[in-house]
Amino acid sequence: MSVRRLAEDKVQPQEFAFNADNKKWAKQTIAKYPKGRQQSAVIPLLMRAQDQDGWVTKAAIEHVADMLEMPYIRVLEVATFYTQFQLKPVGTKAHIQVCGTTPCMLRGSEDLIKVCKSKINEKPFETNESGTLSWEEVECLGACVNAPMAMVFKDTYEDLTPERFEEMIDEFEAGKDVKTGPQINRQFAAPEGGHVTLTDVPAKATKARKPAAKPASNTAPKPTAKQKAEEPGAKVKTPSKTAKKAAAKADDAEMKTPLFEAPEGQKDDLKLISGVGPVLEGKLNDLGITTYQQVAKLTKKQIAEVDDRLSFKGRIERDDWKAQAKALAKGGADEYRKVFGKDPR
Ligand code: FES
Repeated sequence: MSVRRLAEDKVQPQEFAFNADNKKWAKQTIAKYPKGRQQSAVIPLLMRAQDQDGWVTKAAIEHVADMLEMPYIRVLEVATFYTQFQLKPVGTKAHIQVCGTTPCMLRGSEDLIKVCKSKINEKPFETNESGTLSWEEVECLGACVNAPMAMVFKDTYEDLTPERFEEMIDEFEAGKDVKTGPQINRQFAAPEGGHVTLTDVPAKATKARKPAAKPASNTAPKPTAKQKAEEPGAKVKTPSKTAKKAAAKADDAEMKTPLFEAPEGQKDDLKLISGVGPVLEGKLNDLGITTYQQVAKLTKKQIAEVDDRLSFKGRIERDDWKAQAKALAKGGADEYRKVFGKDPR
C-alpha cells in the first residue's frame, strides 16, 4: 500500500463547507449517536465531504473536526487510514480501483492494470489529460468469487477481461451508464455457465416450497388437498429413486445431444479461448464442438443454440470466441499473440 498523505498545498482549496442539503444531512447523522459519542459520525461525514467535492481536502478534514469537536489530527488519522478516502483530486467521471490481491491477481488483475496505464495514466492517482479518469491498485474488495474485479466509486465491476475493461473505461469517459456487477452472463455469484449442482431437483418439489397465498378472510373456502400440499412445511411427496434417476438421465441426455457432428481427428484445446474453462470445454465437446475451426465458423443461429445449451446468453459474442478461434485455427498461440497482443489463456 502506498503512503497516504494530504495533497500538496497548491491544489488544496482554502475553505470547505457542506452545501445546504449535506449540512442538514450531517446534522441528522450526528444526532443519531448517543450524547457524548458524536465523534462516531466522523466516517460518514468525511464520506459525504468526498461525495460533495470528489476528494477529501485538508479544509474538509478541519471542517469535520470542528463540527465534531475533535482535534484535527484525529480526523486526519481517519482520513489517511482508510483507502476509500481520496486525498487528492481524482478523475471526475471515474476513479477506478483495481483489486490486486492474490485471487484477482491470479485471474488477471495485472492485465487490467496495464489497461489503466495505457488508457488513463502510467501512474496511479494521476488523472488522464482531461482530468476525467484516474486509477489505483487496492487490496481485496470482497468480491473475489468473481475475480478479477474493480470498483468505481460505490459500484463493483466483476469477471473482467482486459477487452471488457477497455470498453468500460471508454463508456465512463463517454458518460454512459456502465453495467455493474458481473460483466459476463453470471447471476451475482452463481456458478459461471449455469448451475452445476442440484440440477436434477424435480420441478414438483421446487413448486411445493412456494408459500401458499393467505386466505382473504375467515370465510374463505377451505384449502383443497392440492393447496394443502403446497403450504410451507407440507409433506412433499418425494419421487421414487427410480423416477429421480430417470428424470436426471433424461435431462442429462437432452443436454448432451450433439448439435453438431464432431470432426474426426484430434480435438483442439478449446480452453485457450478466453472465457472457456474445463467445464465449458466439456459441454462444447458434448455438443459436437471440438475444434477452433468449428467455433470460428458458428453462424448467428448456431450461436443462439449453443448459448441456450450453455445457459449463458451473449457470452460467445461478447468475448468474441469466433475471432479468438479464428486466430488459433490460423496459427495457434503465435497468431493469437499477434492479433490480441497477449497470450491465449
Ligand atoms: S482478491 Fe480481489 S476482490 Fe478479493
